[in-house]
Amino acid sequence: MVIYKKTSQKLILALNFSNLKETFNLIDQINPNSCHLKIGIEMFTLFGPSLIKDIHKRNFSIFLDLKFHDIPNTTAYAISAAADLGIWMLNVHASGGIRMMLAAKKALLPLGKDAPLLVAVTVLTSMDSNDLESLGIFSSPNEQAELLLKRAIECDMDGVVCSAHDTTHFRKITNKNFILVTPGIRTIDSKADDQRRIMTLQQAKKSGTNYVVIGRPITKSKNPINTLQYFLNILVEDNEF
Ligand code: C5P
Repeated sequence: MVIYKKTSQKLILALNFSNLKETFNLIDQINPNSCHLKIGIEMFTLFGPSLIKDIHKRNFSIFLDLKFHDIPNTTAYAISAAADLGIWMLNVHASGGIRMMLAAKKALLPLGKDAPLLVAVTVLTSMDSNDLESLGIFSSPNEQAELLLKRAIECDMDGVVCSAHDTTHFRKITNKNFILVTPGIRTIDSKADDQRRIMTLQQAKKSGTNYVVIGRPITKSKNPINTLQYFLNILVEDNEF
């Protein structure tokens, strides 16, 4: 079991396994107070709500990263069903629009204080200017992310998912309770994979992000537990984060 001096819980470990043995072999070595776990569309499609229940039995809080993007009514039902699973954090694509985000928020109202955090994805960290241009979006990723941030704020989202390249600026223009979640974290020598707008954890930490999402640099490393420990040590090195 990995135990940390200070538990920062600022790290969200993105699980991306295709078999349950490997999944639980890893998470059963992790203290649930040390990080949150993220389940995305790959694992939820393979294993469904029973995976969520099995992880909850181990006392982890879950970010269910299904990035809903549909018509408002459908999204609201999906959000409601996901919230019933006792999820800690849920998300939608801000590009689904204002009415969709408002419907998602409204679907959580009956849960009151027990509602999961609802965050909106701005621009995927895997997308660069060329990707946006090919979709007819001629703003830079930062400009487009800022536009989507503003829509997310108008819809009373609890936060956004954005690149660490955006967080310094976003921190200045959002109130302190607004959550910034940043994937695309890499060490200097690790592969970028399909990500484009990446940063090291040390840089991200300085940028004012609230939570970092780290997947493959941990799960695909030779020793995932040592690598997780390495990242957690960076997070608790001082109190900046
Ligand atoms: O393996 P890696 O560290 O790149 O994993 C990042 C995770 O964060 C992936 O599961 C991906 O789906 C998610 N994500 C992202 N960019 C966003 C939102 C979520 O990479 N804007």
